[in-house]
Amino acid sequence: MNRIDVMAGWMPEATIPKASAEHFAPSNIALCKYWGKRDSELNLPVNASLSVSLDTLGSRTRVEPIEAASDEVWLNGVRQVSDSRFARRVSGFIDLFRIRHPELAFRVDTHNNIPTAAGLASSASGFGALTKALVDAFGLGLTATEQSIIARLGSGSACRSLFDGFVEWQMGVREDGLDSHAVALEQTWPGLSIGLIKVDESEKSVDSRAGMQRTKETAHLYQSWPLQAASDLSRLQQAIETRDFALLGSVAEQNALSMHATMIASWPPLLYWQPGSVAAMQKVWRLRAEGLAVYFTMDAGPNLKMLFESASAAALEAHFPGMEIVQPFGV
Ligand code: DP6
Repeated sequence: MNRIDVMAGWMPEATIPKASAEHFAPSNIALCKYWGKRDSELNLPVNASLSVSLDTLGSRTRVEPIEAASDEVWLNGVRQVSDSRFARRVSGFIDLFRIRHPELAFRVDTHNNIPTAAGLASSASGFGALTKALVDAFGLGLTATEQSIIARLGSGSACRSLFDGFVEWQMGVREDGLDSHAVALEQTWPGLSIGLIKVDESEKSVDSRAGMQRTKETAHLYQSWPLQAASDLSRLQQAIETRDFALLGSVAEQNALSMHATMIASWPPLLYWQPGSVAAMQKVWRLRAEGLAVYFTMDAGPNLKMLFESASAAALEAHFPGMEIVQPFGV
């Protein structure tokens, strides 16, 4: 099954865009990571994952039908050359919407308000916002669940950016992936804080897509990952249910380090950490030993995302000057 087959069900005959449209989608940080695909064409995951959306930090994307031979892709006010990786991914995703009319062209304008200094990936919010904008422009009137399925075809983690707050991506079992989408959890957690620590913001040499494929294919350690993730997910649900911060933080940190262990055990080895990443981890462990309730998570990159409650913010900021703080549920 390919992406076009999945999309065809939502694209009635003769569908043409009605107007331009603009939408926002938040970035999200996984507390239980998505790492490994059972279907790499449809971005169907090996394991379910759980994230928290970053409120107002994310991508705002506008799509506009244009009279042109090809798409025009803009990022943060800069026109992207058409054979750049970014422009090709965007145009490839728009192809899913112009299956009835391949001659259509669009201008796509994306602005990320994620502080560049935070070193956060923006593909999740980018494909989330692009999905909403295209669905709106084509007047498809799809539910958030259906849009989550479509966003997943752009980038797996984007399916979680369709929702605010705590979000679970249910892995599903179907071959067409129509049961693999995110759902928003009811619970909130005022005061839960995420601190973005930049270690290095340069473009990584191996992206998540290639990294998870390499891990799955070459690391024997990866065999233990689905079990670890399933257990972490249910412990996170319990932590959220009971507002047990020590449980939430410890599970998220162990989950991230377990994912990194599988990467390190792959061949050629994948180590996203830099000396600054390890120094920050050691600082977190020292502060925790001294009684400060702080944990971290990391994605496929060198930067850390601190997890703490707002009461600890002042103490933590003294140790990590320049840390950007996001409170997904308010103070
Ligand atoms: C480590 O969603 O970027 O951030 O589906 O290939 O686009 P593709 O991968 P992507 O992978 C994200 C991996 C992660 C963990 C997570 O966000 O769950």
